Amino acid sequence: MKKPKIAFKTLGCRLNQYETDALVSSFVNAGYELVDYDGDADAYVINTCTITNSGDKKSRQELHRTLRKHPDAVIVATGCMATHYQKQLKESNNYTYVVDNDHKTGIFDLLEGHFAGEVMEVEKLDTDRFSYTAANHGFHTRSMIKIQDGCDNFCSYCIVPFVRGRAVSRKPQDILGNIRQVLDFGYKEIVITGVNIGRYQYENTNFEDLIEQILEIEGDFRIRISSIEPEGYGERLFQMFRHPKLMPHIHMCLQSGSDRILKAMNRNYNRSKFTEMVHKLREIVPGINLTTDIIVGFPSEDEEAFNESLTAARDLAFSHIHTFKYSNRSGTRASKMKEQVHGTEMNRRSEEIRKVSEHNKRHYRTSFIGKTERILVEKIENGYASGYGEHYFPIRFPATDKTRVNEFYEVRIADLEVGDDPVAIAHLSRTDEKH
Ligand code: 5AD
Ligand code: SF4
Repeated sequence: MKKPKIAFKTLGCRLNQYETDALVSSFVNAGYELVDYDGDADAYVINTCTITNSGDKKSRQELHRTLRKHPDAVIVATGCMATHYQKQLKESNNYTYVVDNDHKTGIFDLLEGHFAGEVMEVEKLDTDRFSYTAANHGFHTRSMIKIQDGCDNFCSYCIVPFVRGRAVSRKPQDILGNIRQVLDFGYKEIVITGVNIGRYQYENTNFEDLIEQILEIEGDFRIRISSIEPEGYGERLFQMFRHPKLMPHIHMCLQSGSDRILKAMNRNYNRSKFTEMVHKLREIVPGINLTTDIIVGFPSEDEEAFNESLTAARDLAFSHIHTFKYSNRSGTRASKMKEQVHGTEMNRRSEEIRKVSEHNKRHYRTSFIGKTERILVEKIENGYASGYGEHYFPIRFPATDKTRVNEFYEVRIADLEVGDDPVAIAHLSRTDEKH
């Protein structure tokens, strides 16, 4: 019998993308036909996000749009927004299945059963957060590897601990096995993913131990660390960035430059500790690409506190800042705090940080002019090959007949494009012209 057609939509973070990629692989390996989300499918899986109100809104719009467009299809609402509003979504009776994060990995069994005519119960599905198939059919050139899930930090603004649950770490042997598998599939770049990866702890293995073990795997591939909190590691990790396989980019979340606000956020470091880490990091890995998240408009953030974030953004010279406008998530401690900041003021603050970010980004990328980067080609289009170098900013160079996707090339950066996310314009280095 011909297998059904299936389509996926992902909102939100890298972890969600990883989980979608892994689900896609299970379905494709079992013979399902993967179709474009805007095409006609028998089943649609929407992996939602609830990190901010805007995540909720986008998720809800996507669910409604899919329902309107495909009233007869099987619709599976999953992910953080679906977990957060599970009760309402179930009661609405609009969706064939509402699958919370705990049971997400069971979506393959759920639909297999469904299309075989069985009556399926979400509550009976697998609850192992790490039993996803190794992704071999994702939407990405890089393969994400999930090392942990959940978070115990309870930052006062954050809904994640409520929808992703307590912190759990995956067995090191399983992580190493998963990486070897995706390398066998041909992936050359691995992104270490989770909710709070610096807190990775499996028996005696901590985050630094794990990265060390990963770096021992043989082959021509590279490792990236995704978003991380400034805790659970130190100089030992910084030293590992000197390893040719560990890419010199770290997205280390600051959230605020004000000690008073950091305390109210329940972050367990202050500005000076964070600054010290950055100095140490840059001393050990000069030129590292340091990026961050900053929240503007946290309750009681006044002009003085905001200015501290602004000066931190400048002084620490982050080469990119993901600016979030504080979003009130019901159930969190911050939602009950007085002195909420007005929306228009929040817009102004966010714009100020964005300007610093844009300035720093151009400055950082300009410093690479005349230097060499090793780029992993992701796309060849209109005569240009594009992808990312070690330092994780976009690069393009004129492709030749021999240029291939998913291959490494040494290029020399000559210039930068205009715009707020300027692509570096490069040429193949002499040594690589043989390609
Ligand atoms: N409002 C705004 N930003 C938030 N983040 C998490 N919760 C909120 C919230 N309630 C941001 C943080 C975090 C990123 C993933 O999302 O900056 O690092
Ligand atoms: Fe949320 Fe804080 Fe945990 Fe990050 S560390 S997921 S911001 S609670």
